[in-house]
Amino acid sequence: MKLWAGRFQKETDTLVNDFNSSIQFDARMYREDITGSMAHAAMLGRQGIIEPSEAAAIIEGLKAILADIEAGAVEFSVDNEDIHMNIETLLTARIGDTGKRLHTARSRNDQVALDIRLYLKKEIKVIIGQVLDLMQTLVRKAEANRHSYMPGYTHLQRAQPTTFAHYMMAYANMFRRDVTRLEDCLERMDEMPLGSGALAGTTYPIDRQSVADELGFARITQNSLDGVSDRDFAIEFLSACSLLMMHLSRFSEEVILWCSWEFRFAELDDAYSTGSSIMPQKKNPDVAELVRGKTGRVYGSLITLLTVMKSLPLAYNKDMQEDKEPLFDTIDTVEQCLPVFTAMIDTLTVKPKQMAKAASEGFINATDCADYLVRKGLPFRDAYMIVGRLVHQCIRTGESLDTMALKDFRAISSLFDEDIYTALELRTCVEERKVPGGPSYEAVTSQIAYIQDFINARK
Ligand code: ARG
Repeated sequence: MKLWAGRFQKETDTLVNDFNSSIQFDARMYREDITGSMAHAAMLGRQGIIEPSEAAAIIEGLKAILADIEAGAVEFSVDNEDIHMNIETLLTARIGDTGKRLHTARSRNDQVALDIRLYLKKEIKVIIGQVLDLMQTLVRKAEANRHSYMPGYTHLQRAQPTTFAHYMMAYANMFRRDVTRLEDCLERMDEMPLGSGALAGTTYPIDRQSVADELGFARITQNSLDGVSDRDFAIEFLSACSLLMMHLSRFSEEVILWCSWEFRFAELDDAYSTGSSIMPQKKNPDVAELVRGKTGRVYGSLITLLTVMKSLPLAYNKDMQEDKEPLFDTIDTVEQCLPVFTAMIDTLTVKPKQMAKAASEGFINATDCADYLVRKGLPFRDAYMIVGRLVHQCIRTGESLDTMALKDFRAISSLFDEDIYTALELRTCVEERKVPGGPSYEAVTSQIAYIQDFINARK
């Protein structure tokens, strides 16, 4: 029999039962649901809304249910629709009429708002920890590759030289922002909605603050209508995860390129790549490709929830039950992608020789050549024009700037001297870029220290 059977003359159709129920996917919030109910029952007892002995019996009953669920000894039922009613039904079946007092001064609307917050608060911390692990791996890779020169690109055309360490720290900074976004999101969602009731609060003399304290919330929600109808925190979380996945996806794309025979800047560990069923020579970057692919489902979840919420009048509407699958799928996806991605990067073999070779071709030192002339007194625009002509000439003769004879340099500008060759060396081009944020050994070393401090402050 349904909890609400009093108002009804007929049983719910089985089609509706299946359609309406969320227990298939919200069962995973059982711990949060029980913890929330225990805190609620304890408060009801303290406030004299139910007898302290009744509160104690409810809490004992809930504890036993929790233990049984963890032991795999509980089967949930679609007839009881969702995790909230399943647990309440189990409680009453076990402890009798006292169980029926638990839902005093509460609605499933504030109950579900509480459960999702508790669940997300826990998972956000897991994700932050995983992102910090990835950042630690990037720091290690960077430390070992401060002299691994490689081409930097714009438009995927060789542009200016940099190092593999500089590259790693670029991604570390994206992940640093992801961590702070998740932290901001956590801070804003840290509000306890119980007491909002169905929508208009309650007439019972409840103590919301004490429940918030017991459950570890920073504050209580400020308005009961908003308390039950707000899913901003879930959307914010999905948005932070979308950006995080976008960063992982861009990084994946680079790994895929670097591991191609066209680049050969890096090689994946055998344990983190796959073979082909037909082509014996293949070593495929499936992990990177799957991370890139899974980014799509996280974006999809964000759009799903934004769309679910966009026209909902206050307060609760059943549409909001559709918040859970995209949220849970995103949590599962992100928590699966991060550790495998981190391990893939950790075991990646970098090929500094191959990268340096690529960085020595393609006139990657052309800007440095222009800067040389600027140091000799020429305005940058004039220097730029001269080097453009030099490059054009080199392309015609099949030479590069570093191999061109001094007399050919001087034929275009008498400002060129013997020291042009040192100025054009790959090492000089990188190590002279000492500007904060730049790729020189010292500049990258301070970037590494900054990220290491950021990680340490959170461990
Ligand atoms: N299973 C519901 C959900 O996830 C719980 C809240 C139901 N409230 C209601 N009044 N139908 O949204």
